[in-house]
Amino acid sequence: MNIAILKERRAGEQRVAAAPETVSKLVGLGFSVTVEKGAGKTAAFLDAAYKDAGATIAGSASAAAKSADIVLKVQGPEPAELKYFKKGAIVMAHLGALSDGKGIAAIANAGVTGLAMELMPRITRAQSMDILSSQSNLAGYKAVLDAASEFGRAFPMMMTAAGTVAPAKVFIMGVGVAGLQAIATAKRLGAVVTATDVRPATKEQVESLGGKFLEVDPEMERDAQTEGGYAKEMPPEYFEKQKSVVAEHIKKQDIVITTALIPGRQAPTLVTLEMVESMQPGAVIVDLAVEAGGNVVGVKPGEVVTTAGGVKIVGHANVPGRLAQDASTLFGRNLLNFLTNFVDKESKTLAIDWEDEVVLGTLVTKDGKIVNERVPTVTVPKNGPSKQEQPKKSAKKEA
Ligand code: NAI
Repeated sequence: MNIAILKERRAGEQRVAAAPETVSKLVGLGFSVTVEKGAGKTAAFLDAAYKDAGATIAGSASAAAKSADIVLKVQGPEPAELKYFKKGAIVMAHLGALSDGKGIAAIANAGVTGLAMELMPRITRAQSMDILSSQSNLAGYKAVLDAASEFGRAFPMMMTAAGTVAPAKVFIMGVGVAGLQAIATAKRLGAVVTATDVRPATKEQVESLGGKFLEVDPEMERDAQTEGGYAKEMPPEYFEKQKSVVAEHIKKQDIVITTALIPGRQAPTLVTLEMVESMQPGAVIVDLAVEAGGNVVGVKPGEVVTTAGGVKIVGHANVPGRLAQDASTLFGRNLLNFLTNFVDKESKTLAIDWEDEVVLGTLVTKDGKIVNERVPTVTVPKNGPSKQEQPKKSAKKEA
């Protein structure tokens, strides 16, 4: 069985689908691994390290992909890559299956079997294969560092001979994987942390990390979680209530980090124009949901916007990619953990169980067809918020 690891071609993507340590484990399982030349460079993994791990280096995407039974990628394949894939080959990646119907159709038309790893079911057994978790964890951490680097003040309380510096007040909106890591990171930096979420289970999690939970409406939140562990879309009455609770709180905050997502839908608007304008000059908002439309009015994908009132709104795209080395290592381990399930240790052969829950959940194309009903039914805008109101701003392009 041949596995190919291709270079990522989407603009700004720094990650690679497997680190050398993953390659050596794949080789140990009996796979022949080919890595496209330079595939790991932006994640600080050089060709020599892949070679040492047992891979063959191919000079081009076509040379790497042409005999591959399985292709590992971070982002879904571009049409220019797909043409090199064997009919019947498997591609494992974040295929954007809930938003990129066109991309999924192209994979089906190429006769390639697509496993959209972002659709991994939220079951205990699949935790080690969950790319959304591994990448969100790093994004939550990096969001706090990004906020700290834009903030003109310190996070911890400091008692100096020149006087005392007050600790930063950090407010996290959305306490999933990214939010929890953001709370832990902000606490480690010495901030005073509060957080809110629609899922009631998160209250205890926030408190166990030393944060304070901001409650909106426990009655309406009782039914806010799907069986899969995700948030449901909340009714307009909830947003009205949330707005008034949050508006009071936010004007006293130095840093706000938003992470709220609803799978397959536009991200909910949590921070309105009035809220942004109520914050003090120098305050920083980091919107981790920017690629799903944004939680913050005025956020711009890939930009740091400074409003007329001196509030910075940070909209970095692909935040896990800003920690490309760790993100690639964890992403590769997720894919390895998935494949390991289906390798017979004795005969070292791969036999995918097409009825397995993790396969049924992630399989989007097979035998030339789209086979997952979640694919065409939902659309999330790829870029930017679609909100009407936008704050007055001076935009600083991301370096
Ligand atoms: P996510 O990335 O889809 O959303 C982030 C957070 O935003 C969620 O906590 C959600 O409740 C919150 N949110 C959505 N709408 C909101 C609103 N209007 N106001 C405030 N908050 C809002 O979620 P994520 O991080 O992928 O996971 C959610 C949960 O799923 C985790 O906390 C965990 O319990 C569970 N999970 C289970 C796994 C497994 O068992 N294999 C793997 C990963 C997560």
